[in-house]
Amino acid sequence: MRSFAKVLALSSVAALALTGCGRSDSGTSSTSSASGSGTGSASSGAAGGGFAADSLIGVALPQKTSENWVLAEQLFKDGLASAGFKADVQFANGGVGEQQNQIQSMVTKGAKVIVVGAIDGSQLGTQLKAAADSGAKVIAYDRLVKNTPAVDYYVAYDNFKVGVLQGNALLEGMAKKKANGPYNIELFAGSPDDANAKVFFDGAMSVLQPKIDDGTLKVTSGQVKFEQAVTQGWKAENAQKRMDTLVSANYSSGTALDGVLSPNDTLARAVITSVKAAGLPVPVVTGQDSEVESVKSIMAGEQYSTINKDTRNLVKATIEMVQALQKGTEPTVNDTKSYDNGVKVVPANLLEPVIVTKENAAEAYANDPTLEPLTK
Ligand code: BGC
Repeated sequence: MRSFAKVLALSSVAALALTGCGRSDSGTSSTSSASGSGTGSASSGAAGGGFAADSLIGVALPQKTSENWVLAEQLFKDGLASAGFKADVQFANGGVGEQQNQIQSMVTKGAKVIVVGAIDGSQLGTQLKAAADSGAKVIAYDRLVKNTPAVDYYVAYDNFKVGVLQGNALLEGMAKKKANGPYNIELFAGSPDDANAKVFFDGAMSVLQPKIDDGTLKVTSGQVKFEQAVTQGWKAENAQKRMDTLVSANYSSGTALDGVLSPNDTLARAVITSVKAAGLPVPVVTGQDSEVESVKSIMAGEQYSTINKDTRNLVKATIEMVQALQKGTEPTVNDTKSYDNGVKVVPANLLEPVIVTKENAAEAYANDPTLEPLTK
């Protein structure tokens, strides 16, 4: 896990970044009034459908399956507080039932916006309907919420692009070691209950499938489908077990393993652990999240790549959405077609992910006080 020091450093940066973010409401009363408007004050319950400037904002986070979620907790607490809101930030380490209860309780407490990083994006229909019925707005954070009309906005790094970058990195990393294919690879995907997992995989396969078709890549195990590649719960132990099985069935008698598509850093390190335990050379392995241990591994020449999805920027973009809603204005979105949740296309604000290898790590983490020193 990323150090507490990093969380502190990041949260103070976020607090700074949010200061002067255009809060026009400071000092105004918190009492809601549906009538006030047009006076220049963005205070309470404005005509455009806003709400009181010191309202409660709920943030429902999933399990701590990667460092980004841990970082988000403190960033939301500090960022919402410095924007003048009350914050109720919860993790649901106990699973879906716990997250459902937490969201229900945020509704009961009168939260005006509920930000949801779903464990299982298709299991929150009842609680989000209750949120909508109470007049609260719902923002899906990082992971899309599926099969419900009760989600107003989505804010995330561009998930398909993440997969494309991973697919390209895998090809590039293998070409650096061996100029020409065919290359033997294996494929891993994230947890099937997380709406992102399939999008990451589809993005990567948009690059890799044509190379499988033309014979440049060979998936030795034959396990090319998302359902075969998934890692339940994004758990390292599940990826490690599957990799152990793949290695003993396919690579124990001399077949070289050139590369592994891994959807994130936690699983990348599990794959590397498995391969090393089997006494094989470490193949080209992709990742995502810029976790401390993976950045160290990249600098040491083991893991090949990761993705920088700076949590500070994602939380900041989310809080800006909340601030727009508070004022009764339309939040910024830049995508109104990609994220169909089965019931509606959810307007999204998508941020740009950045691929990181040893070559560009110093530049990519230049403004990250924890990661930058690791690149020296
Ligand atoms: C996030 C990834 C993360 C994964 C596991 C995904 O929904 O987008 O950044 O690695 O969850 O926590």
